[in-house]
Formats: sequence, C-alpha cells, structure tokens
Amino acid sequence: MKKRISEVFQDLFSQNPLIAFAPGRINLIGEHTDYQEGLVFPAAVKQGIYIAIGRNQEGHCRLYSLDFDEEYTFSLDSISPQKGHWVNYVMGMLSQLKQSGFAPQSFDMVIGGTIPVGAGLSSSAALSIAIGTAITSLFNYQVSKKSLVLYAQKSEHLYAGVNCGIMDPYASAFGKKSHALLLDCRNNSHEEIPIDLGHFQLVLVNSKVKHSLADSAYNKRRMACEESVEILKIEFPEIKTLRDIAISDLEKVEKILPEELFPKAKHVITENHRVFEAAESLRRRDLLTFGKLLNASHTSLSTDFEVSCAELDFLASQAQGMLQVLGSRMMGGGFGGCTLNLVDKEFLVEFKNQIQNSYQKAFGIIPDFIEVELSDGASVIHSDSTSF
Ligand code: GLA
Repeated sequence: MKKRISEVFQDLFSQNPLIAFAPGRINLIGEHTDYQEGLVFPAAVKQGIYIAIGRNQEGHCRLYSLDFDEEYTFSLDSISPQKGHWVNYVMGMLSQLKQSGFAPQSFDMVIGGTIPVGAGLSSSAALSIAIGTAITSLFNYQVSKKSLVLYAQKSEHLYAGVNCGIMDPYASAFGKKSHALLLDCRNNSHEEIPIDLGHFQLVLVNSKVKHSLADSAYNKRRMACEESVEILKIEFPEIKTLRDIAISDLEKVEKILPEELFPKAKHVITENHRVFEAAESLRRRDLLTFGKLLNASHTSLSTDFEVSCAELDFLASQAQGMLQVLGSRMMGGGFGGCTLNLVDKEFLVEFKNQIQNSYQKAFGIIPDFIEVELSDGASVIHSDSTSF
C-alpha cells in the first residue's frame, strides 16, 4: 500500500510525497468504559491507514481517496462538517489544528488503507491519527501524540457525530509491537503490557454486519451512563463517573437506579473490574482466566449493556463451545463488526472451517478471519518529499 499510494500521488500531483501511517486497533477487554473514565486494554494492529501528502501552491487542498476512488477539493477558509462524507476526517483534524493556533497552507493528499471498513477495527480513528501525523509532519508543527489523540476524538464528536471515548485514537497513536496498552481513561496514561500468548493466537472473526442503529445506540448508551451517575451522586456524592463505584457497592446501586438503567451501570462497573483482572492474568500468563474474562465480558455486553446482535452472539457462543478456544467476545462499540477469539494455534484451520460453516448456514454470510499481530502506533514512514 505504501508503494501504491506513493505512485498514485506522484501520478496525480507530480511530486514525491511524505507518507504517514496509523494503525487500526483491537481491544482485548474493557468495552464501553472509556467514556466513563474507566480502564481499557487496546493494542494497535498491522492493518491501518496510509496518507501521502505534499504542499501545493494552488491556494486550495486537493484530496483523493483510493477506497472511494473520489477526488475532493476545498479551500482552507471553508472548513465545515460535510454530512456522511469521508472528507470530514480531514476537515475535522484541520479545524482542531486551526483552533490550536496552527495555520496549515494548502496541500495535496492521497488516502488509502488496509483496514476492512465496518469491522470495528477503528478505521476512522486511524484515519484521523494518520491525517494528523501527516499534516503536523509536513508543516513541522510540534504537536504531542496526546494532543493529536484529543484532536481526533473531538473531530469524531464534531464532524462525525459520534460521542466516542479516547480509546481508539489513543491505541492508534501509542500502540507498541507485541504489547497491549492498559489505558486509564481518567488521566489518559497507559502502561505497556507485553503480550505473550504462547501457542494461542488472537483471531478476529468479522461478522460482516454493521447494523444501522450503531451510532445512535452508542450515543444513547453513553447518555444512560451519565444519567446513572447523576442519580447515584445523591447517595455517593464523591463520585464523578461510574469508574468511582466499587464492585462491592453493586447491591446498593441496584436499589437506587431505575430498572432500565441498572444493567447498563452494572456492565461498566463490572467491566472495569474485568480489565484489571485481565491485566493481572496476562502478567502471570494465566490464559485460562483471561479467556474466562473474555467470555464474561461478552455476556455482560450482550445481556446487560445490550450492544450485541444475533450475529455476534452466535459467533461468540459457537467459539465458546470449542475446547481449543479459551475465550470469545464481541469487540468494540457493538451491533456488528468482529468477535475476538483466543484460539489454540494447532486448531486454527479447524476453527475457521467450523465457524465459517455454521455462520454461513445460520446467516448466509461468509465471515472473514484476521489473525491479529500487535504492532506499533502511528509514524511517518517516508519523508523526503519534494515539496515547494
Ligand atoms: C467505540 C468507541 C470507543 C469505545 C468503544 C467501546 O470503538 O470509539 O471510544 O467506547 O466503542 O468500548
């Protein structure tokens, strides 16, 4: 992809570009906890977004998306959300940079990627981080990775309309080869945990569905958590988010919250605890416990938080029923995308066959399989551009 994007850029704009890359992410465990200042456990993967960029003297920006085979030209004076359009990710990051006092000049850009769209590997966060890395490097702006992450999150809120947490751009920016990031979303700091799974392999099964309610349901779940916090503050005045509720207080919480809110709060409170336990289990290479936590996370997301769907429940329960699979759960925001599975390497071929056959029989869809490789975060991968 690096070579391809560079060639396309040279064909279109007759100069040698700077190239930036930002990876997609998986999340080992810790779902829907980031926006309640909780714990998450993501890692960057090798699939990602490539951006080729160079300055121009046109007075306007010229973009080309390989995936959409589409060009887009705009002036830096007219940046505003363009409903449902991929250009939002460029405009969103530009608007954040401008607000922070930077004044990029016009540029040309080609966007390409290797992340399957809709699979829940956060192609949008990778896109924002790749764009941010490319623009700040091209213009030599001193912007910390953490600032880029915050810009990407804000851009997603304001330009894509999803009130996401910080996990996805954070993992894309800070990922480390063979490690996962135990990220505390209260102070946005992380610990790199080496991941050695011995003869087990993390495998994603892409359900290839993305139900249309995903974005609105996401925002609704987030609001439900915020509502619970407001109600709980009467009894627990010191809390700021659900992160502050101990698991030992669950019974009390159940008595206070209305019936429809309690399961959602319960998910967040118990999931935070599971992340902590998962990190401990991986530190002592106790994969059996880790696998059980994955299964418990799925049940909680499906039954209590209600962000799963028939396809994901099916894939998780099929995998959980196999002796050579230590754990399986839906991953990411929900309502489609992938399940994450911890599979014995010797069983991989059989795993794929069995899952493919049963899923195709049940839903008429052939799933995709991705063997996960934990990789480094965003960087500039080619920089001797022949800019003006
Ligand atoms: C999406 C959001 C993240 C996070 C996950 C659920 O990927 O972008 O911030 O909330 O869902 O864990």
